[in-house]
Amino acid sequence: MRQLILALTVLLPGIALASGGGVHLQEANNDLNDKASLQAGAKLFVNYCMGCHSANYVRFQRIGKDLGISNSELQENLMFNADKVGETMNIALDKSDVKRWFGVVPADLSVIARARGTDWLYTYLLSFYLDDSRPLGVNNLVFKDVGMPHVLWDRQGWQKPVYEVTTDAHGKTHQVLKTLELVGKDKMSGNEYLAKVESYRKDVRDLVNFLDYIGEPNKLVGRSLGWKVILFLVIFLGFAYALKKDYWKDVH
Ligand code: HEC
Repeated sequence: MRQLILALTVLLPGIALASGGGVHLQEANNDLNDKASLQAGAKLFVNYCMGCHSANYVRFQRIGKDLGISNSELQENLMFNADKVGETMNIALDKSDVKRWFGVVPADLSVIARARGTDWLYTYLLSFYLDDSRPLGVNNLVFKDVGMPHVLWDRQGWQKPVYEVTTDAHGKTHQVLKTLELVGKDKMSGNEYLAKVESYRKDVRDLVNFLDYIGEPNKLVGRSLGWKVILFLVIFLGFAYALKKDYWKDVH
């Protein structure tokens, strides 16, 4: 029993961290049926993520077929390292080089949406903030001391932490992180600021949508099949009802 409790106390902080370290996760609300969003996400992925992360389980061809992108469009817009559409989303960089630069090998992102969950990914990509104490100058709310740079800064801008001073029951003051805010907020009108925030949220939603899709490409097929089955059932119900009426009309 004591060992069990010990094991639990050792494990629990890990679990709490894995679920976002106490930070409230924002809902991704991504929509796998939205092809335009999936296409935009695919573009962002190859342009901003594949410098370091691969998606080795995924073939370009499959993406083209599922998302309605022709082979020539694939080659022109998505395939920078690959020659043939049958290739997987591998990266040109040598993984040992990347490890030397960042200290870790960036994970393959094929099934990251299943491992972390879409809400976590969404919140993660929204939560990079400036932190001078870190080697890359940024930290992340849901991934403390993250070793990944804020690669989407040219789409989001830089966020800085806003702290609030609170006093506890013993009269001690604490600095608590209240929110993150874009640098330069004071130079923008309220509407400008909201538009900028929303446009980045859309980027991240598209990206998470794409990661969700590659994690389980069959979900897409499954869903469209689901609709066909329902449609069939509805039509069938109509026929069955008409038949029933026809059979019973002489009885009444
Ligand atoms: C310059 C290299 C680089 C680029 C580009 C990059 N990443 Fe990363 N990423 C890393 C490194 C390094 C880590 C490991 C961080 C750590 O363990 O501290 C990481 C970690 C992650 C993780 C956490 C994986 C885990 O362990 O659960 C996710 C998710 C992620 N990256 C997503 C992305 C996405 C999405 C993009 C594109 C928008 C992207 N990355 C672009 C280097 C990069």
